[in-house]
Amino acid sequence: MLFEYINNLEGLTYFENQDFHSAIRLGSRGSVSGPTQVLSLISSIIQNSITIIGFISVLLLVSYELLLLLIISIAPQIFVLIILKRKRFALEAENIEKHRVASYIEELLQNPHSVKEIRIFGLGIFFVNRLMSTIQQLNKAGHDYDLREMFWQSGLALFSSVIAGISFVFIIFQAFWGKITIGDIFLYSSALASFQSSLYSIALPMSTVTQDSLYFRKFIDIKYLAQNSKIIGNHTCSVPHLKTGIEFRDVAFRYTENQDWVLDNFNLFIPSNACLAVTGINGSGKSTIVKLLTRLYDPQKGQILWDGIDIREFEPRELREHMGVIFQDFSRYYLTGQENIGVGNVQSIDSLEAITHAAHKADLHRLFITLPNGYQTMLSKYIESGNRGTELSGGQWQKVALARMFMRNADFFILDEPTSSLDIKTEHEMYANFVKLMGNASSLLISHRIAALKIANFIAVLENGKVIEYGSHSYLIGLKGKYAELHDLQSAVPFNQL
Ligand SMILES: Nc1ncnc2c1ncn2[C@@H]1O[C@H](COP(=O)(O)OP(=O)(O)OP(=O)(O)O)[C@@H](O)[C@H]1O
Ligand SMILES: [Mg+2]
Repeated sequence: MLFEYINNLEGLTYFENQDFHSAIRLGSRGSVSGPTQVLSLISSIIQNSITIIGFISVLLLVSYELLLLLIISIAPQIFVLIILKRKRFALEAENIEKHRVASYIEELLQNPHSVKEIRIFGLGIFFVNRLMSTIQQLNKAGHDYDLREMFWQSGLALFSSVIAGISFVFIIFQAFWGKITIGDIFLYSSALASFQSSLYSIALPMSTVTQDSLYFRKFIDIKYLAQNSKIIGNHTCSVPHLKTGIEFRDVAFRYTENQDWVLDNFNLFIPSNACLAVTGINGSGKSTIVKLLTRLYDPQKGQILWDGIDIREFEPRELREHMGVIFQDFSRYYLTGQENIGVGNVQSIDSLEAITHAAHKADLHRLFITLPNGYQTMLSKYIESGNRGTELSGGQWQKVALARMFMRNADFFILDEPTSSLDIKTEHEMYANFVKLMGNASSLLISHRIAALKIANFIAVLENGKVIEYGSHSYLIGLKGKYAELHDLQSAVPFNQL
């Protein structure tokens, strides 16, 4: 359920917030232990109530004052136990970041993808030391708390013994005064001990439930967050087939308030039935455009218009159904070849026909039929080793990402550096067939490579959050500006051949 709620959260903003991740970790514990602890408390109350009622009637025979003393004496114990459990939760919540760091380092130290670099750079000891120091800090905090808890628990035990002692003396005196027989002493003192331990058996799970309810609260917080986190907009329009194009109008965007604007007064038109290429130096905001188009973030100022309609008028999920996207940092899932392509359109994940069609387009079919289990081969040895799993090369993974995009019957394709790892021949073939591959869809192609930029109908050059040049390849070459400079640099004779 927790992950169903998390899945309902639109956009990426929550996912870049450490408090949110801490809440997930605490809530995840609460979702498991909260309900079971409540059940165990109920069962403990039922079991012990029978004992307690039995002994109340026995102890009433001695004195109701004694009974009252025993009942009242449990109150401070419950109070102290609850405070201790609350403090235990506060300690966990305070240290949750460190727990997350420890889990992250543990994962780094065992995942083959990170172990590669850890071995080459000799980082093992560096990370192990960091893990050790994190764990030591956690242990220290836990140890200090344990000492405090032990002190209070001993206090409680002492208090309980004093009450038991007083009660026992009282019973002895009752026998001394002849109110009960000597033989009754044994009956009443064992009733006394059982009564006290039954009360404690209820008090302890009661305090545990208090602690677990705090964890559970985090689970509920995430539930409410998911229910109330409707992404801004009216969501009243259904998304029309793209006819004219997409326009960024006076858009300003920054990831956080204390950061510089990534896009500022940004204007760009992406025409339909055409390919617009975007280029610009690293960090100029190209991938940010993709995240805004797909509504992973919303701009702080200005509008993005789909055929003249603000995209905030659309339901984000419906808008995304009209798009096929390859992110620059696309995901490499620990799934089979078929599934890794099929996730591009999960309704067709079982359709081998649709998947092989997409694989053909991405030049992947020839590779997949040679794998030990063909399309059913697991693309990770982390999950399945031996003959059933394999690892792909960087370029092969990029083809998987392309095939994933081709699974979509989209109006608009977004390709962020889609061929940066492809070999020259495959890249050349892909761009030679680009128009055919795109079908009737419009496309936004982000690239640094002249070979890719050349095939686009229009090219936009980004700098300092703005479009500084816009036009066809030949127009921009004629302009002798940034684009022409980039072109000359890429076509220059290598230094060693000068
Ligand atoms: N999630 C984020 N939170 C905060 N800042 C970010 C985030 N993602 C990107 N940035 C910053 O926004 C700026 C633009 O990043 P973006 O990824 O759009 O650049 P880019 O043009 O795609 O670069 P590249 O050519 O390297 O892919 C950079 O300065 C980057 O540091
Ligand atoms: Mg980028």
